[in-house]
Amino acid sequence: MSWVLKLEILLNSVLFYLFMPYQTIQEGSALIKAPKLEKISKELPVFYNPAMKLNRDISIWLLNTIEKEKMQICLPLAATGVRGIRFVKELQKGKIKTLVMNDRNHLAYKLMQENLKLNGIKKGKNLSINKKDATILLMESAGFDYIDIDPFGTPNPFLDSALAKIAREGILAVTATDTSALSGTYPRACLRKYWAMSLRNELKHEIGIRILIRKVQLVAAHHRKAAIPLLSYADQHYMRVFFSVAKGKEKADTLLKQHQYFLYCDGCMGRKISEENGGGCSCGEKYTIAGPLWTGMLWNEQLLKKANSIPLLQALKEEATIAVVGFYDLHKIAEQYKRSCPKMDWLLERVREKGYAAARTHFTSSGIKTDMPLEEFLRLW
Ligand SMILES: C[S@@+](CC[C@H](N)C(=O)[O-])C[C@H]1O[C@@H](n2cnc3c(N)ncnc32)[C@H](O)[C@@H]1O
Ligand SMILES: [Zn+2]
Repeated sequence: MSWVLKLEILLNSVLFYLFMPYQTIQEGSALIKAPKLEKISKELPVFYNPAMKLNRDISIWLLNTIEKEKMQICLPLAATGVRGIRFVKELQKGKIKTLVMNDRNHLAYKLMQENLKLNGIKKGKNLSINKKDATILLMESAGFDYIDIDPFGTPNPFLDSALAKIAREGILAVTATDTSALSGTYPRACLRKYWAMSLRNELKHEIGIRILIRKVQLVAAHHRKAAIPLLSYADQHYMRVFFSVAKGKEKADTLLKQHQYFLYCDGCMGRKISEENGGGCSCGEKYTIAGPLWTGMLWNEQLLKKANSIPLLQALKEEATIAVVGFYDLHKIAEQYKRSCPKMDWLLERVREKGYAAARTHFTSSGIKTDMPLEEFLRLW
């Protein structure tokens, strides 16, 4: 980097620190002082992203719902500290044993300190704030029961240390905001970052999440750990997965057996899971290949039975009852087969009448998840 560029970056940062307007926001039970930004971007040193409120709401629901007490919690990418402060205020009594918050950015570190004060929370033996690189913080630790990897972009740089340090039966939460790589816009970026082929069609978000899950499971496997998805979802600009991490090479091997290819026919919309990365559809077209990817469950049905009133959780509760990769998109069918688009509820009823499971999918408002074969589905109307 030239010295002119370095000087420019330094000057920009100084101006940013000195003249940044601030605002105080209430989110859940937390009051948060944060820079007032027109637009969230990763070029700016620190930020509070209101669009991620749901992400934090769901973390709180999950930690309050699982049967775990006295957790050692680590938020290695904590930014303003909003998640940690909400944990202190909104997690049930007895849930937190220790809470470690960290951000390598100086302004974030300062804001976290101010925000703790603003919320009347004291630092101490059970609560610390750090200004380290996330990987170093994790690797120097004795391990945690909950680690939240919530970066801007790919979680890749933090997966190895998080999986090395997650405790037996611990929970690892992973956010990925690089959805363009995972869901087919940049296929080479997906291969490079996630070691799999993405799919650019109506199933792109589900396929992307399954590719992300496999990557996390591969990294877990070399630590002899099995990362089992508890809850997964795609929202606007990010994907999020909570894993329950078990120890043992046999458990890890069992998960790896569920890494397969997803074959999709652009001609008839037929699809299948396969060990083979190719082949032809019965309609005569060649399959488009995606994966390898996780073909197991994206959710723990028992956990989602306890969903609260958050609409996304209500949607996942239904979806979690169906063990199928992919869904049928009614708009796509209408377009490809030149036919009308029936009412969703009417169609769900017809599928169930025939003895198959069916539910809406949170991935798109026009999708139905069902174990009914496509040919039979297409005969319903
Ligand atoms: C998307 S923000 C985190 C948002 C936060 N988890 C929340 O819920 O509000 C990502 C943060 O990670 C920090 N960060 C990025 N790379 C880091 C690293 N290697 N070590 C520590 N912090 C890092 C950035 O400074 C930024 O504040
Ligand atoms: Zn076909």
